[in-house]
Amino acid sequence: MVAENLSQQVYAVVGDPLGHTFSPRLHRAVFDYLGLSHIYIAWEVKKAEFKAAAAQLARNTAGFNVTAPYKEEIIEYLDDLDLSAEIYEAVNTVKKEKGRLIGYNTDGSGFLQGLGAYEIEGKNVLILGAGGAAQTIAYELAHRGCRLTIANRSDERASRLVFRLKRKFPAVQARKARLNKIPTDNYHCVINATPLGMGKLSGETPLHSQHLSGVELVYDLIYNPGETKLLKLAEAVGCRTINGFQMLAWQGLKAQEIWLNRTFSQQEAADILEIIERKKEAWQKS
Ligand SMILES: NC(=O)c1ccc[n+]([C@@H]2O[C@H](COP(=O)([O-])OP(=O)(O)OC[C@H]3O[C@@H](n4cnc5c(N)ncnc54)[C@H](OP(=O)(O)O)[C@@H]3O)[C@@H](O)[C@H]2O)c1
Repeated sequence: MVAENLSQQVYAVVGDPLGHTFSPRLHRAVFDYLGLSHIYIAWEVKKAEFKAAAAQLARNTAGFNVTAPYKEEIIEYLDDLDLSAEIYEAVNTVKKEKGRLIGYNTDGSGFLQGLGAYEIEGKNVLILGAGGAAQTIAYELAHRGCRLTIANRSDERASRLVFRLKRKFPAVQARKARLNKIPTDNYHCVINATPLGMGKLSGETPLHSQHLSGVELVYDLIYNPGETKLLKLAEAVGCRTINGFQMLAWQGLKAQEIWLNRTFSQQEAADILEIIERKKEAWQKS
């Protein structure tokens, strides 16, 4: 992880597992577009090794992404938090600034960009999962006046998320549920923020068809595979569907803006999105 020359910097993504991740290819595509020779690596780290890994990342990189399950755990190793990370209480992007590590969160803006033209304000939303991504999204949606059901495998994390939501947004209508006992309701939108549907769990779905009738939009944060079992079920009953690719792309662009201390023009962002959209199919096959 040592840069070859002073203008070449090292970036990374840390998480576990990382077999599914497109982040290295996405960030390398952005560096190529910008004519930069920076390096971006994926580093799969087990829980017991995370503290040592955080120290190495601090020493050897100019910045890094953090993914599941370390988005909250990383906070204790940072010197400061940007407002975005403070609001979401989770970090997915770290930048080294004058030797200090600053944590940011670009998942929230990436999620909203991924929604495209769908108007989510005030909708009745079922969020599957209560981890880092679910929390970021729940905060965004509470801020937009949505009614929320947080359905999770473990009761503990769902309770904690509903508690935090009500503390931050006292007027929010939020309740918890177990993933295997989801209350029947007229949900407008369903968001999958669990890994059910990817990697070793690619044959699984967090939800079955009976909960999907009448749902306008099913948004699966998974982007690899591009069409999960959940999205196939949703399409079959006529729901609009979105996978996690746009969210990944936009949160990645935002991370690059933070690291490189620049703003992409609309044209640059459109060019980069077109490039990675073209590469996506090959990435999904490999
Ligand atoms: N497209 C994007 O840019 C983007 C960005 C962020 C995340 N994501 C995706 O969103 C998903 C969640 O990420 P995260 O960062 O929130 O992860 P996380 O913090 O580790 O949370 C994982 C969540 O999934 C649940 N879960 C894990 N394994 C499960 C299983 N076998 N059955 C049922 N529930 C299970 C966990 O429930 P427990 O509380 O019971 O453990 C928890 O609620 C991942 O698939 C990730 O790839 C995509």
